[in-house]
Amino acid sequence: MNKQSQWKSSTGFILASAGSAIGLGAMWKFPYMAGIYGGGAFLLMFLAFTIFVGLPLLMMEFTVGKMGKTYTTKIYEKLTQKKWLNIIGWNGNLAVFVLFGFYSVIGGWIIIYIFNVALQMITFSDDNLGNIQFEAIIGNPFLTIVGQGIFILLTMIIVMMGVEKGLEKASKFMMPLLFIFLIVIVIKSLTLDGSMEGLKYILQPRLEDISMQGILFALGQSFFTLSLGTTGMITYASYASKEMTIKTSAISIVAMNILVSILAGLAIFPAITAFGYKPTEGPGLLFKVLPKVFDQMAFGSGFYLIFLILFLFAALTSSISLLELNVSNFTKNDNAKRKPVAFCASVLVFMISIPATLSFSSLSGIHFGAGTIFDNMDFLVSNILMPLGALGTTLVVGQLLNKKDLKAHFGKDKFKLFMPWYYLIKFVLPIVIVLIFVVQFI
Ligand code: PHE
Repeated sequence: MNKQSQWKSSTGFILASAGSAIGLGAMWKFPYMAGIYGGGAFLLMFLAFTIFVGLPLLMMEFTVGKMGKTYTTKIYEKLTQKKWLNIIGWNGNLAVFVLFGFYSVIGGWIIIYIFNVALQMITFSDDNLGNIQFEAIIGNPFLTIVGQGIFILLTMIIVMMGVEKGLEKASKFMMPLLFIFLIVIVIKSLTLDGSMEGLKYILQPRLEDISMQGILFALGQSFFTLSLGTTGMITYASYASKEMTIKTSAISIVAMNILVSILAGLAIFPAITAFGYKPTEGPGLLFKVLPKVFDQMAFGSGFYLIFLILFLFAALTSSISLLELNVSNFTKNDNAKRKPVAFCASVLVFMISIPATLSFSSLSGIHFGAGTIFDNMDFLVSNILMPLGALGTTLVVGQLLNKKDLKAHFGKDKFKLFMPWYYLIKFVLPIVIVLIFVVQFI
């Protein structure tokens, strides 16, 4: 076991896995997905999937990591003595690889916005936040490639230096600060003229807005925000100490994720109607709307800058978990290889992220399958590889692992959660995932 990456307390583990979970998924992806797939109806489906599917799956990934205590392209063999099942680990590895490829595009946008706002402040230029032109910035291929390069570089440096622990400590105050900022934005948004329509759109579920596609994307969204099916959470749990508490950790991560997603929705939707945007703006939604909201505040630029830095921090604690999974699998937890592996993986990610970033500029005309190259990368990960990975693990846990062993690792069971959880994993969730999965191909 890799000493450097082992957490001594369960707080370290919770902070790291919460850091992995809470990121662009809740704040950037949730509002734009909800905007496309029915607002309140999407929120309702997302909540149902997160609580009844995501939470048990997260507990499952934590249990597997705690039991197997090794990297995830080996853990399935170690637990079942069947080598071919390591394919589930490789599926997860592929998923995070592609995921990092398009995640870094958005990380890059945050960095570009940080420079933009900082420059405006330093030069006292008469440009104001309201004039930030999303299309002009994101349509610049060179700028966006540089932005995402910096994002990947930052992630790589953190992982290479093994300073994740410092980051986790910092997240103790950065995350609460981000919450406070979100609440302030919500209040500002709700007091804008014309905000009530947007509020209604996100809070009022209209049954006629529920579509098969919406169901599929809502499931994908809960997988994405909870980092499920990539085995990333299994990796973190495999580093955790014996005292880690599976249920409390999983419940608190799910609760925080739901809270951040709802706050992001409450911050964005009222502003959408107040400023006359369409909810269906797509991936640029948050970046188009937020500057307008901050523009209405006293010291708006300064606050926006701080918010962007906190947002970048949340994105980085997720992206390091993406790179960490590759590092752990390819070094087989041998620390000596950490730097070269982190370097090679980052270079490869940078290469695959270029077509993703160009989906918003020179390659924007290319449309197939789920949409642009960027959309297809996201679809492949969130709607195919993640559900497949989670399905594989439910089958291993429900059909091949010993119930007594599972129970022992599940920990003290004051509320008698083990049996319902076990039967859910054994009988119900594999069927739910297969059904939703199959429907998309019909
Ligand atoms: N959960 C992260 C987010 O919402 C993304 C992620 C997925 C991170 C899978 C690691 C593994 O931003």
